[in-house]
Amino acid sequence: MTPLTDRQGRFSPLKATVLALALLPAAVIAYWFFTHQLGPLAVKAALRLIGDWTIRLLVITLALTPLQRLLNWPKIALIRRMLGVTTFAYALTHFIIYIANSKYDLVFVVSEIVLRIYLTIGFVALIGLSLLAATSFDSAVRKLGKKWKMLHRLVYMIAVLGLLHYFIQSKIDVSPAVLLTGFYILLMIYRILITKRVSLTPAVLAISAGLAGALTALTEFAWYGLTTGVDPWRIAKANLMFSFGLRPAVIVLLVGLIPCGFVMWRNRQGTLKSQVV
Ligand code: HEM
Repeated sequence: MTPLTDRQGRFSPLKATVLALALLPAAVIAYWFFTHQLGPLAVKAALRLIGDWTIRLLVITLALTPLQRLLNWPKIALIRRMLGVTTFAYALTHFIIYIANSKYDLVFVVSEIVLRIYLTIGFVALIGLSLLAATSFDSAVRKLGKKWKMLHRLVYMIAVLGLLHYFIQSKIDVSPAVLLTGFYILLMIYRILITKRVSLTPAVLAISAGLAGALTALTEFAWYGLTTGVDPWRIAKANLMFSFGLRPAVIVLLVGLIPCGFVMWRNRQGTLKSQVV
């Protein structure tokens, strides 16, 4: 199977579209870079933008299995591997830009990775992603057999490392990192439900959304309480004040309610159809 073909070797418009969409942010960032639209610290800005997309794509990749289950659309499995490899390509690009930003001084790069904990964490995440990308081919799947699945479960740990790297390097505002962590928590809840074969009813999905929202608020509270001088209670209260815009916990709750609404709508369509028959 190539990046653009399905298991039968036929051109897959779905894979081609998803690949084009996944590469679009990198193309736009490259365009901004070469047309001098990234400000005076253009390399650093590109580093950050590619880092943002690495973690976003990783979380989107993790969303594919629950999405496949909810939409009952087996074809989604076709794009999971491709999106995973694309995420690795972004992470590698992020690292290469970091080397460029360090004036290609490899001794400095190695010493920084050893000395700065957030870089050590990012590096371990990158090694993990390389391992998964290197074993993502059909031949590796066949060779590794059952071990392949176990190895590829590492992706959940790699995402935690990526998120931690994101949190630590964030300055005062950790909201974007909290938001992605909230989506990750929601996806982990779905994963547990799917593994335990719990039926994804509207009630189960609504409770999951509430739980993910609450855990997101708790993560934010703990981060501010433990690592900054900002009063975490003020941050927690802001979740209930919409004049500041929607806080990450509220966004996670609302996004979590979308699948709930979708399943309610699908059940209703099913009931209406059976009444017509
Ligand atoms: C060797 C591996 C890595 C190195 C050396 C590295 C280095 C960096 C550096 C220097 C920054 C900017 C910090 C600043 O502005 O002060 C950064 C930001 C970031 N990195 Fe990495 N990183 C690595 C791996 C990763 C991986 C694997 C991911 C995702 C899974 C990732 C996601 C991010 C994100 C999301 C940001 C924040 C961007 C923003 O602030 O908008 N990085 N990284």
